[in-house]
Parts: sequence; C-alpha cells; structure tokens
Amino acid sequence: MPSEKSIYAPDKTLFKNAYVSSFADYKEQYNKSIDNPEEFWGEITKQFHWETPIKYDNFFRYNFDIRKGPIYTKWFDGATTNICYNVLDRNVRNGHGDQIAYYWVGNHPDDYSRLTYKRLLEEVCKFANVLKSKGVKKGDRVAVYMPMILEAVIALLACTRIGAVHSLVFAGFSADSFSERIIDCGAKVLITADGVWRGEKFLQLKSICDQAMEKCSKHGHNVDCCVVVQHLCRVTSPNRMQEHKKVYMKDGRDIWWQEAVADASTSCYPEWVQAEDPLFMLYTSGSTGKPKGVLHTTGGYMIYAATTFKYVFDYKPNDIYWCTADIGWITGHTYVVYGPLANAATSILYEGTPFYPNNDRFWEIVEKYKVTQFYTAPTAIRALMKFEDDLVKRHNLSSLRVLGSVGEPINPEAWMWYYKLVGGEKCSIVDTFWQTETGGHVLTPLPGAVPMKPGAAATPFFGVQPVLLDESGKEIQGEGEGYLVFSRPWPGIMRTLYNNHDRYESTYFSKFPGYYCTGDGARRDADGYLWVTGRVDDMLNVSGHLMSTAEVESILTEHRGVAEAAVVAKPHPVKGECLYCFITTTDQVKFDAKLLQELKHHVRERIGPFAQPDVVQNAPALPKTRSGKIMRRILRKVAVNDRNVGDVSTLADSSVVEQLFGGRPENA
Ligand code: WTA
Repeated sequence: MPSEKSIYAPDKTLFKNAYVSSFADYKEQYNKSIDNPEEFWGEITKQFHWETPIKYDNFFRYNFDIRKGPIYTKWFDGATTNICYNVLDRNVRNGHGDQIAYYWVGNHPDDYSRLTYKRLLEEVCKFANVLKSKGVKKGDRVAVYMPMILEAVIALLACTRIGAVHSLVFAGFSADSFSERIIDCGAKVLITADGVWRGEKFLQLKSICDQAMEKCSKHGHNVDCCVVVQHLCRVTSPNRMQEHKKVYMKDGRDIWWQEAVADASTSCYPEWVQAEDPLFMLYTSGSTGKPKGVLHTTGGYMIYAATTFKYVFDYKPNDIYWCTADIGWITGHTYVVYGPLANAATSILYEGTPFYPNNDRFWEIVEKYKVTQFYTAPTAIRALMKFEDDLVKRHNLSSLRVLGSVGEPINPEAWMWYYKLVGGEKCSIVDTFWQTETGGHVLTPLPGAVPMKPGAAATPFFGVQPVLLDESGKEIQGEGEGYLVFSRPWPGIMRTLYNNHDRYESTYFSKFPGYYCTGDGARRDADGYLWVTGRVDDMLNVSGHLMSTAEVESILTEHRGVAEAAVVAKPHPVKGECLYCFITTTDQVKFDAKLLQELKHHVRERIGPFAQPDVVQNAPALPKTRSGKIMRRILRKVAVNDRNVGDVSTLADSSVVEQLFGGRPENA
C-alpha cells in the first residue's frame, strides 16, 4: 500500500497546460499572495464588476486576536457589487450567453434538460421579480429546501440579485431541524418543490415543509409565503399524477412556482450591495447541539469561490465539470453554484444517487457527458469500491483530467482505487480540505503543480497561512502533529455566526488567541506536506501516544475484508484511553475470530503495539448523517454502553443505533 513516501507526479499533458504548472510556479504565486495580498487579489478582482470600485487603501482589515478587541474580517470594504450580476450578466456580456451553464441529469435516466447562461439569467430575473412582489427586500432571509433541480440554482441567484440572504437547509433534514433553522434566521418566505425521487426513495418535500411551517407557527413565527416547484409531474416515475394530486396548498400562503413566474418580467435590475453585506447563511452542527448559522458576505466570498474553482479544478473553456455534492451543503454552494458560474463553466447538476438505476450511474454520466473534472466524497468512493471493477471499466472515462475529494480524510486505499480505476493513472487527485466556515478550499494540492501523496491535503491555497499548534498554543515548526489553525483571513472566510457573534468568537478564536481554529488536527511531514488527521475531538491518547482515529481507520480499511471502519476512544483504567473499533465487512468476508485477530495484528504492525485495538465490534452499518459523516458521538456512547445517545435526528437511519448496542461484543 502507498505510504508517505509514495509520490505521484501530475500527468505530463495535464501539467503542461495547467494554469499553475510546476511546484516552483505554485510557490512563487503563493508567496506573492502572502507577501502582497493587495496585488495578488487586486489583479483577480479586476475581472469582476464593482459598481463602486475597491479602494486600495482599504483593501482588507482584520483582527484575529480576541485580546485586542472584537474579531472581524473585512475585504474590499466600501466597494459595492452584485454576485448574480457577476456570474450571469457579466458572462452573457462576455459572449457566453448561448453556452450551457447546466446539464440537468434526473434521477431517472430518461429525464434530462439543459440551461444556457442567457436562459438562466432570464429565469433568475423572473423569479427575483416574484420574490420582490412577495415583499422580499435586501437583507431579508429566505429559507430554501430543494432537491437538485435547476430551480434550486435559480432560487439562490434570484435571492442574491435583490440582496436577500438565502438560507438553505439540506432537503433531507427533518421537519424539526428545518423549523428550528427557519425560526433562527427569521425567514418569512420559503422555497421548495412538491417532491423528489432519489433512487427508489420518494420524498414528499412539501409535506415536510408543511410540518416545519406548522412547528414554526407554534413558536410564534409565521412563514408568509411558500413557493412550490411542480417537479413531480415532469419526471419519470411510476405514478406521478397521484403523487402530484396529494400535494396540499394552503390558500393565501402557498403558490406554485410555475404559475408565479408565468407573467413575471425577464429583466430585473440588480441590487448593488456592499462587499461586506451578507450573501448567505448555512447551518453547520456544533458541539452543543444548537446549529450554528455560518454567515458569508458578498465580495470576498465571490472572489474566493471563483479563484479556488479555477485553480483547484484547473477549469478551461469547453470543460465539463461535475460536483456530486448536494446544493444543501457548502460544497454545493461554492462548487455547484458560485465557483463554476463565476468562471462561466459548464456543469452537471445531478438529481439522483450513485446507485440508481445501477451501481455504475456515476460512470455512465461521466462517459455520456465527457466529464473533465469530477468532484465527490470519500464515503461515495468507498461505497462504490465495494462493487466489481467492471462497473467502472466498462465505461470510457478518458475525458477525465482532475478528480476531487472532499469532506473527510481520504484513506489511501480509496485514493488508489480512485486514482487507478477511475482516473486511469493519468488524472490528478485534489484532496480538498475545507469547511462550511472557510467558504472554499484552504488546503489542497493544485492539479498541475503539486505532486500528490495519497491521503495528504498537501499545501495551502493562495492567501492561506496554516499553522500547527501544540496543546500549549506554541507553533510547531517542521515535522510534527497538532491543532490546525490559520493565522490570517483569506477573502472567503466566514464573518460571523448569524445573530451570535459571541459564539463565533468563542468557538473559533478563543482557544488560541490570534488564530482561527479549525477544530481539526494535522501533521506536517518531512516534505512540508500537510495531512489532516480528523477532528481534534477524535484524537485519542493511548498510554501517552497521541493518535487520530482517522489514522487507525485508514489502516483497518487496508484489510480486504473491511469496507468501512470507525474508531473511537474508550476510557481505559491503565492506558487512559483505548481503541474501540467498529467494522463493516465487505460482502466477501465474514466477521469472525480469524478476521478479528488479523485486524488487531495489522494495526499492531502498522502503528505499534500500543495502538492495538482493545475492542473490535461487528457493525453491519454505521451511524451516518444524511451527508455521509459518521456520528462518532454515538459510537462513543456504544463503546461505553451508555444509552443516553442524545439527539439522533440528523441520522440517515436511526435504527442503526439499536443494532449497535445489540451487537456489542462480550469483552467490550
Ligand atoms: C472534514 C465540508 C480531511 C474536516 C467542505 C472539516 C476533511 C470538516 C476534508 C468540515 C479533507 C473536509 N480531508 N478532512 N479533504 N474535507 N474535511 O463543514 O474535519 O461539512 O473540519 O465542510 O470536514 O465539514 P463541512
């Protein structure tokens, strides 16, 4: 298996034509971005439209040191612009009007459509006019609960056109979670669709919204208007008309999207907003259970989304880009909507799952549309790895050039599978580390410039200054492992938590004054590469040896019998903590004493005797959120047999919890 010493150079044809085509080139530009940010970002901002120009004596200001006063970050303060104008009107003016902005690919293979930049602009203007007619004004929050359909993109851009702040909630969250978020942001308008098919699963989105709005009312918050896209009647499904008829529409509150836009004008003058005016908010989970409303502002986010997209995916005219992330997550915001559109890119918007109608749907779409950049999550890669290679091999994937990974550390086995089988050993893999809070990629190799090491997020993006700190807050120089923090802001960093600046300061800036704290750990190797080791709360200390659960997981998954592994710390009377491992086996292998011994032995071999797991439990399924993240909090409870698991509403399948408690081994 690949080790830290395995290095994969970018393919020749790739680096020759790349925007950044050598490590020296990357270094030079990186240094410029750090030493002279005004010049570096200043050149980029010139490609965008600013109604009131940027003042160079007020380019950016910040305070990251809580001891010196309130935390703040401001980029291009005083300039005005409009992101919708920049990603649509500007592109149409530059001759991209007839170019496809999105190929929409439906859940069912018979369903597809497309939208050019010109049409997208018209649709956005129409819907912006609808929002205006419903009283939505600059600064108002609009709640969005949408499947992966073109109207989702249109809705977001329509908000930004009139200066409204969108607040998307992933259309997989329960009515409870959704209502909590609507109330928190005070949204008066909600945008949704009647329903959606994902694989063979049918989701009645509107009825979830009805429940959510009812819950809001009980708490004294009323949603005045709910716009509903009629989606079910236009897709292939067994009984579409029946589903459609079931949709309840409340008089005076609910309107159909299609009827509302029918007479709306296709032009809508953009609202010029301050660079530091709010653009959108997006909730992310916090340690206390109450979600945090991460707030991004306009100018800096726009520039950062555009720049990371261009360089990290090395997007060139005529490329076909596909990010599989749902629009309800930050990856969907930055790399399905704003980043690609800011570069006049052509993207795929896919409604379905990797497994429908067959387990090769991803590869079928890549082949059909000749996708050049493909961006997905390790959890999807690991799920697809379980099937026979032929599902990948039977498709011509030679159009691919850059493969992306996001969301969690990618284990080297998954990396190699992605690299060899999907990428044919000629694609660069960009392992992009970032967060809802960072707005865009902050650590990642650049595809034509930075040689890859499987599992390493490698190098900082332009303008980003990573630092590793030890427990006492001292900077670690050279090789070492510690807390991953950033010592200065890049344009796309979050500005606050909505209505809760105190929590913003205490969550991200109080542990280590002077730094933005990611909550992740990282290791720097002898070559200066950064390896994100996982959340710091997932670190464990066995007999004084610090290790990350991600590290052990990665080693466990090297075993051919292991499809997925999750490791948590369990208190231990002598060692302090010990390892408790949950194993999902592959289809071919049974969980038995032999496998157990092999796994223990393997971990001993790969890390050291201190790392040998004390408990290995058979876990037919792991407790995952709907976005595919393993909820280790629950596993820690299983490990100590404590049934007070707390809130499980964000789990994709909550029956997993009972199964795990029932499956605890005798020695646990
Ligand atoms: C983790 C997703 C390792 C990390 C964009 C971070 C990663 C959290 C990577 C943010 C990566 C994301 N390597 N870990 N390439 N990408 N993470 O807010 O723990 O949903 O803090 O943003 O995901 O998750 P979020």
